Amino acid sequence: MVKKEAFGEFEKYTISNDGILVSVTTLGATLTDVCFKGKNRVLSYGSPEEYLARKSYLCAIIGRYANRIENAEFKLNGELLKVTPNENGNQLHGGPDAFDRREWKAEILDDNAVKFELFSPDGDNGYPGNLTATVIYSIFKDGFRITFEAESDKDTLFAPTTHAYWQIDGSDVRDDVLTFDSEKYLPVDERLIPTGAELETADAFDFRSPKKVGGFFDHCFLLREGSDRKTVPALTLTGRDVTMELFTDFPAVQMYTGPIDGFDDYAGLALEPEVVPNSPNMPGYESPVLKKGEKYSKFVEYRFK
Ligand code: GLA
Repeated sequence: MVKKEAFGEFEKYTISNDGILVSVTTLGATLTDVCFKGKNRVLSYGSPEEYLARKSYLCAIIGRYANRIENAEFKLNGELLKVTPNENGNQLHGGPDAFDRREWKAEILDDNAVKFELFSPDGDNGYPGNLTATVIYSIFKDGFRITFEAESDKDTLFAPTTHAYWQIDGSDVRDDVLTFDSEKYLPVDERLIPTGAELETADAFDFRSPKKVGGFFDHCFLLREGSDRKTVPALTLTGRDVTMELFTDFPAVQMYTGPIDGFDDYAGLALEPEVVPNSPNMPGYESPVLKKGEKYSKFVEYRFK
């Protein structure tokens, strides 16, 4: 069933069945609730004003490019392009006024799915191409899926993510138990740009077997190549009364433990499925280029037990 209500000047859509309830607002196509066993498992604010005033991209859709682009520039088809910088001369999460702050247009598809659509004009935050992005939230028994689609009328970059902050236990996320299908992560410099090296997930970074999150992270984990991403979870997060499995066809996941604007330290855990940070300047990784007329499609799916 889908319920539509006002959320300040925006709208909120709640999709629910016997097992799961998911609410999404048209502000940023932001996830405000994921209720499983009667508890909300994501962090949320009470009003659109607070989402707009705070700085942590709380559970929003990030676009056009998730994570950082070094010096806010890259070459596309041999031409150097500049996009709008918003963090130390780099671009973070699509620029200063990006997809997370926009009003998306919602359409109820059926009892289990709502589609959010955003038109991003040519030149938006410096990116070429008139781009239409759609994000579909759909639920099934004990889980939900986010489907990202897009099309542009010029070659451009498109590499979104969901910036959900999980608080599956309602307590310190360092105590959550994590398993990551990842054998490598990307070390970063002081501006949080990958250095170009890949390190093996050893010690604190080794989540190949279940282990407590333990401490601070703001790192990109490369997902193991060759795993069937429809059946093998990229990661599993376990609290006292719930286990969440994340499936995705993105090649990497950024794990970020905060600080989170408006919350206590370690109140939530961001697990952002995405291409690798700065990929427009990192040949050898999955390209974030979306060709003119090409249909973009990626998914992230969550299953709860
Ligand atoms: C991502 C980044 C972090 C931080 C958050 C938003 O997770 O990797 O450095 O910018 O987004 O607060």
